[in-house]
Amino acid sequence: MSGRVDYDRLIRDFGTEPITGSLERKLESILGDKAYLVRRRILFSHRDLNLVLDDYEKGKGFFLYTGRGPSGPMHIGHIIQFYLTKWLQDKFNVNVYIQITDDEKFLEEKRKLSYSDSQRWAKDNILEIAAVGFDPDKTFILQDTEFIGHSYPLILEIARRVNYSTAKAVFGFSGETNIGFSFYPAIQILPSLLEKKRCLIPSAIDQDPYWRIQRDIAEPLGYQKAAALHSKFIPALTGLDDKMSSSKPETTINLNDDEKTIKNKIYRHAFSGGRSSIDEHRKLGGNPDVDVPFQWLYMFFEPDDKKIEEIRSEYRAGRLLTGALKDLLVAKVTGFLAEHRRRREKAEATVHLFKKDGSLAKEVWKHDFTK
Ligand code: TYM
Repeated sequence: MSGRVDYDRLIRDFGTEPITGSLERKLESILGDKAYLVRRRILFSHRDLNLVLDDYEKGKGFFLYTGRGPSGPMHIGHIIQFYLTKWLQDKFNVNVYIQITDDEKFLEEKRKLSYSDSQRWAKDNILEIAAVGFDPDKTFILQDTEFIGHSYPLILEIARRVNYSTAKAVFGFSGETNIGFSFYPAIQILPSLLEKKRCLIPSAIDQDPYWRIQRDIAEPLGYQKAAALHSKFIPALTGLDDKMSSSKPETTINLNDDEKTIKNKIYRHAFSGGRSSIDEHRKLGGNPDVDVPFQWLYMFFEPDDKKIEEIRSEYRAGRLLTGALKDLLVAKVTGFLAEHRRRREKAEATVHLFKKDGSLAKEVWKHDFTK
């Protein structure tokens, strides 16, 4: 999924629900100072979020599940999903399962990752995720190549219920697709069945096809249909028609970019809705709708509604120049990443808790999947 995305169309095509009315108000009050994500429709669609919140209110509880395919350094768009999941964990005090799909990324031939590359990136990405600050006793990071042997009986139960033509229709497999991918959906579905409670999955909407399959097979297996909370894609730095990709460094900010690189990428590569000369900009004004620095501020980095609207109108009026708008984004991104990196330095010591020794990790490793 790439480029300019028609989100209303995705809701129709995927058969998901927009976040509106009383559900919108409920989610806003849950997210508190992060409610701008709802007001601005960054969190724009869901499946069964209302049922998740009902379960919570009735004391039945729920759990969260999200993940990362470790194909290289993580970028801003990826890590935002984890911060969102952490805010939800803080709010509800629920378990979080984080799947690291080193198998999936190894199988994607276009990436040309050796097995040891996939392991190296898994380790790196797990550190980034540990830096987010999840509760180590309520969070389990499962790295597929380490974990799926243990849970294989349940993966087999899933795999037996998904036929090839369904998977082919959902994922567009062709004769050239390697056979690893025919089985992989069973593995990405697994964490949604790690508890009998309802599972809520925050992610961008690209991962939704897995949940469509999950929702057909979960109940017959004695589990609940997965619920989802979909966010929009943070657009590529180079323009709304491009796709953000860690392997195209100019399209995004990676978490391992230093301050100089961040500045260079934003000043040189960020697509501007400004005019070609300062005079013209002052006379005619800029266009925030296509301006990526504005969009990044709007989607994540400027939570204050008054400030963002002021930036929008000053830019449109031509009083705020492109360079000054980029300065605002540089300050926000470097601040955010400096803090993230400080936490990453301390995160190494917590990784064993997320993977093996924290309360939730221990419980899952002890669980007998043959029953
Ligand atoms: P991956 O590694 O491609 O993406 C990790 C998470 O980042 C989201 N995402 C974005 N969010 C905002 N703006 C963007 N530009 C952007 N690009 C990607 C993705 O939707 C995802 O939430 N197969 C998965 C790994 C996985 C997973 C999961 C993800 C396994 N189980 C459960 C989410 C939920 C993958 O390769 O994600």
